[in-house]
Amino acid sequence: MQYCCCRGLWNTDNNMRKLLIAANWKMYKTPNESTAFLTSFFPLVKQSTQAEILLCPAMTSLPALVDAARSRSVFVGAQNMHWKNEGAFTGETSPVMLTALGVTHVLIGHSERRQYFAETDTTVNLKLKAALAHSLIPIVCVGEKLEEREANLTNNVLELQVSIALERIDPAIAAPIVFAYEPVWAIGTGRTATPEIAQEAHKIIRNQIAQSLTPALAASTRILYGGSVKPDNAKSLCCLEDIDGALVGGASLEPKSFAEIVHNAIAGQS
Ligand code: PGA
Repeated sequence: MQYCCCRGLWNTDNNMRKLLIAANWKMYKTPNESTAFLTSFFPLVKQSTQAEILLCPAMTSLPALVDAARSRSVFVGAQNMHWKNEGAFTGETSPVMLTALGVTHVLIGHSERRQYFAETDTTVNLKLKAALAHSLIPIVCVGEKLEEREANLTNNVLELQVSIALERIDPAIAAPIVFAYEPVWAIGTGRTATPEIAQEAHKIIRNQIAQSLTPALAASTRILYGGSVKPDNAKSLCCLEDIDGALVGGASLEPKSFAEIVHNAIAGQS
C-alpha cells in the first residue's frame, strides 16, 4: 500500500472528520504562561480554519485559558477528570466543575494516567460515560506498550482498550467521541510510529468502533495520532487515510512549533 497525501481519494467519509490538533501540556505552564502562549500562538493560526485547535493545560490554568480563548477560535480541554459529579475524592475534579468553567473537551485514559495513577480500561469507561452525560467532548487515549508490540499483541491490546472503553455506551449519544492512538513507546521518546504502523493501528481502532458501536459511527469518529509529533512529521502522519489529527505533548509547549504542526497537518490533508 502506498502512503501519500491523497486521503481524499481513499476515503469519501473523511469530509465529516474535521482535522483536530490538540495540545497536551501535561504538568507544564502556570496560568500566566498559558495565556502568554495563546497571545503569541493565536495570530499564527487564526487563518487555519480547516482545523479545530484544542489546548489542554494543567487544571490550574483552565479558568484563565478559557477566558482568554473566549474571543478566539481555540478550544480548551482538561487533561483528566473524575466520573462522579461530586463527593469525597480529595484532589479530584468533576465533570460538573469543568463545564461550569466553560471547558469543552477532556482527555481520558492518557497512558501517563494509566501508568502513574492506576487508571484502567474500566475507569476510562466510567469517565467516558460521564463526559458524554455532561456534553464534554472526550478524547479517549489508547495504545500499546513496547513489550506488547514486540510480542505481537498490538491488535489485541487496542481492540480490548477500545471495546472496554465503549462498553454499554449508547450509539445514539456516541457521536462526539474522539479517540487518540498513542503508542506508549512513542510518547516523549522522540520515536514516532512510522506512517505504516500508525495507519494500521488507526484502522484496527476504527474497525473495533464499528463492532462496538456502528459502522456509520466508525466512519465519522475522529482518531488522532499522538507520540512525538513534531513540525517535520505532522504532514506525513495527517495525510493518512485514518488519521484525523494529532495529540501533541512536548512540541505543543512552544507557540511557533505548535503552529507549524497545525499548518503542516492541514497541508497533509489537502
Ligand atoms: P509527546 O506526548 O508529543 O511529547 O510524545 C504526546 C502525549 O503524551 O500526548
